[in-house]
Amino acid sequence: MTEYKKVSESATVLTELMIPSYSNFGGKIHGGVILSLMDKVAYVCAAKHADTYCVTAAIERVDFLAPVEIGDLVSLMASVNYTGKSSVVVGIRVTSENIKTRRVKHTNTSYFTMVAKNEEGKPTPVPGLLLESREDARRFLEAITRREIKSESEQYFLQQKDRSPVETALTILANERCKIGFM
Ligand SMILES: CC(C)(COP(=O)(O)OP(=O)(O)OC[C@H]1O[C@@H](n2cnc3c(N)ncnc32)[C@H](O)[C@@H]1OP(=O)(O)O)[C@@H](O)C(=O)NCCC(=O)NCCS
Repeated sequence: MTEYKKVSESATVLTELMIPSYSNFGGKIHGGVILSLMDKVAYVCAAKHADTYCVTAAIERVDFLAPVEIGDLVSLMASVNYTGKSSVVVGIRVTSENIKTRRVKHTNTSYFTMVAKNEEGKPTPVPGLLLESREDARRFLEAITRREIKSESEQYFLQQKDRSPVETALTILANERCKIGFM
């Protein structure tokens, strides 16, 4: 296995025309269609880096910043941001272009953690990442920070569960738009 690979060796762009069957009742494109395309491009990018089959382990939160219209050309730009032992984090930037006006909107950016698997279906090592620019290094460092924040937030919720059973935290709900229907 190659020890280190460049980001450019697996960077992938997927472009797809938004056809009417992808739309929701409001006439815009379903968020799920975009998520499915993101999963596909993440897979291609990760598998090209790992040279093996990969699975999606986790998806960083996805905010839809702007609606995507029927007839738009959606482009998903994916590159490996981070490499662990058997996992890679693929950063994906999604834009949608109105073909008539050529106006391009940034619709969302997200990060997919993909895990490489061997023939037995077990996680298998991936090549490291050769950081060729400050941009590559910045993305790698940001992925480490996101991982740390996720781990801290998981710890926080675990501790909260032990510390404040629902009954003792019910006062928080007093100013929320809900009504207690039990007890
Ligand atoms: C993700 C999966 C491969 C992890 O397997 P596992 O036996 O728990 O493996 P490990 O604990 O050794 O973790 C392997 C790597 O995955 C990473 N990983 C596992 N779960 C993760 C999660 N929820 N978020 C981020 N990374 C995760 C680990 O950090 C580790 O990374 P590293 O090798 O770079 O250090 C396994 O849970 C799986 O196959 N899940 C289903 C994936 C799938 O089917 N996806 C499609 C959804 S429909």
